Amino acid sequence: MSVHIASTTAPVNIATLKYWGKRDTALNLPTNSSISVTLAQEDLRTLTSAATSASFERDTLWLNGKEESLDNKRTQDCLQDLRDLRRALEEQDKSLEPLSQWKLHIASENNFPTAAGLASSAAGFAALVVAIAKLYQLPQDMSALSKVARKGSGSACRSLFGGFVAWEMGEQADGSDSQAVQVLPLDKWPEMKAAILVVSDAKKDTSSTSGMQRTVHTSDLFKERVDTVVPRRFNEMKEAIVQRDFPRFAELTMRDSNSFHATCLDSYPPIFYLNDTSRKIIRLVDGINAFYNETIVAYTFDAGPNAVLYYEEKNEQKLFAFLYHLLSGVDGWKSKYGDEQLKAFSDAFSE
Ligand code: DP6
Repeated sequence: MSVHIASTTAPVNIATLKYWGKRDTALNLPTNSSISVTLAQEDLRTLTSAATSASFERDTLWLNGKEESLDNKRTQDCLQDLRDLRRALEEQDKSLEPLSQWKLHIASENNFPTAAGLASSAAGFAALVVAIAKLYQLPQDMSALSKVARKGSGSACRSLFGGFVAWEMGEQADGSDSQAVQVLPLDKWPEMKAAILVVSDAKKDTSSTSGMQRTVHTSDLFKERVDTVVPRRFNEMKEAIVQRDFPRFAELTMRDSNSFHATCLDSYPPIFYLNDTSRKIIRLVDGINAFYNETIVAYTFDAGPNAVLYYEEKNEQKLFAFLYHLLSGVDGWKSKYGDEQLKAFSDAFSE
């Protein structure tokens, strides 16, 4: 009996304008539009293979080699949507094999710690949807498939595209216009780099899903954020990306990370994702930009203490001069930017 198989990889994306809040929890419709950068394929990614055969007895999922339950509504919704799309094809073309009726075997593997605030669910659902769409030979484009991935995990819809990606919140109650679109491919701004500082690889204690709904229901600051701040920032950030204006992009990114964590703190009871090391990194980035008298690096934090730093490749040495000295304790690093000054500065942060 024949087995059909398809594989794909999907990279992690890190939001620079955060999605935080759902207006419809069943369909994963957000309270605001968001923007992210999808990291290069070789960095953090999920590799997923999907197979189907008339002989398979039940849908089965393996995550990093371990069988996982498929018994959750979000995964079921994605599988249902994909099977519906395949069924529509089979109805149009009777010569197609009835893959939509067969069970699926799905094997997924991350090359980074799962659920450590590194957006593993985003890469996971994106890879799941694209692998099965390939298996089913669906004609839908990535934006259409992003609506399916969105139901698995909101941020997953952005991982279907590379580079700079916007998730347009949409207006329709059925979610038909809530989808991801590419703002700029990475090769149009190839100097953009990301450094991830893994402060902790422990599982986060308040999941994004429950944390964001606590914020929606209890934070006063949140209303200002979604009604006024984010809609304005969404357009400004898209503009900064298209113009490749790093200082502007960086400022908006840092302001949005601050605003998101402020609404977490304003939730009741409050949600803390940042820890002392995260705050030290914020001060460090501020200090580095002040030291060079130019914005060369931006920080952003998702629902966890880990930092993602964005910078342009031409400034890598300038940034790493500080990072090596402070964070890895590498002694004797020689810098062309004035060792004495650098040392005095970094000593102040090492205390
Ligand atoms: C802070 O996409 O994980 O990373 O839709 O409930 O699965 P669900 O939430 P999820 O939330 C991501 C929140 C964030 C910001 C972002 O990625 O935009």
